[in-house]
Amino acid sequence: MKNSILSILAIACAMLGSVQTVSAAGDVAKPKQMDWSFSGPFGTYDKAALQRGFLVFKSVCASCHSLDKIAFRNLEALGYEEAQIKTLAAEYTVTDGPNDEGEMFDRPARPSDYFPNPYPNKAAAKYANNGAYPPDLSLMTKARKDGANYVYSLLTGYKDAPEHVHLMNGQYYNPYMAGGVIAMPAPLSDGQVGYEDGTATTVDQYAKDVVHFLNWAAEPELEARKRMGVKVLIFLSIFALVMYGVKRKIWHDVH
Ligand code: HEC
Repeated sequence: MKNSILSILAIACAMLGSVQTVSAAGDVAKPKQMDWSFSGPFGTYDKAALQRGFLVFKSVCASCHSLDKIAFRNLEALGYEEAQIKTLAAEYTVTDGPNDEGEMFDRPARPSDYFPNPYPNKAAAKYANNGAYPPDLSLMTKARKDGANYVYSLLTGYKDAPEHVHLMNGQYYNPYMAGGVIAMPAPLSDGQVGYEDGTATTVDQYAKDVVHFLNWAAEPELEARKRMGVKVLIFLSIFALVMYGVKRKIWHDVH
């Protein structure tokens, strides 16, 4: 009996082992595990990091990626004043209409507008990117497994292709992308975006900041949700203590 249990265990271990070898042979690297201020039960966003991340998104990623779910007025959560948001929105042009003559027209964006798409349609987006579509980034950190770590690793993970990988024109090697090949050229380089708060202007820092921002975009309610979770836990602990006292009192005379 004992022997058969042992042999079943041995077979199970061998199977697990072989599964691991298979995934190691696949071309995907496990994302680097970063220490984000927004993870864990007490997680919060860092407003300075959010603002820097937004700057990186706006100056770099927004030329290819849309951010459909975010309106300019949502940026108040990053600590911007109403007037700043108005000015910021006005830098963008959106199409509105039709007007009284039935024509669509362009106007500067207002705080209530959503981020305009960099391309007029999907075909234009693909055409501009060698046939690959740059996906919307609003929910990206939720859409991928281990999203924040994944996007960070992807942005910092570009490498020269190993010999067995053959890249076609417009393809780049990135071990974190499924299959190891991605159609997005490495978007970040050192010194590309100026920071006013003295933070290092390196690829690593840009990647951390833009992921902070993208995680906020995907989960703006995170802080409220976590605060509520902590309150519920405190309530439940007190409630459990009270109920324990009640139980002792009621059963006091029963032996
Ligand atoms: C020059 C255009 C361009 C720029 C700039 C750009 N991207 Fe991309 N991005 C793409 C394209 C094209 C794809 C689709 C790649 C593919 O499917 O192989 C992509 C895909 C992605 C993906 C999805 C990868 C996956 O798992 O499918 C993420 C995340 C991403 N980009 C993040 C960013 C961030 C963050 C920035 C700014 C720092 C940025 N991109 C800047 C063109 C761009």
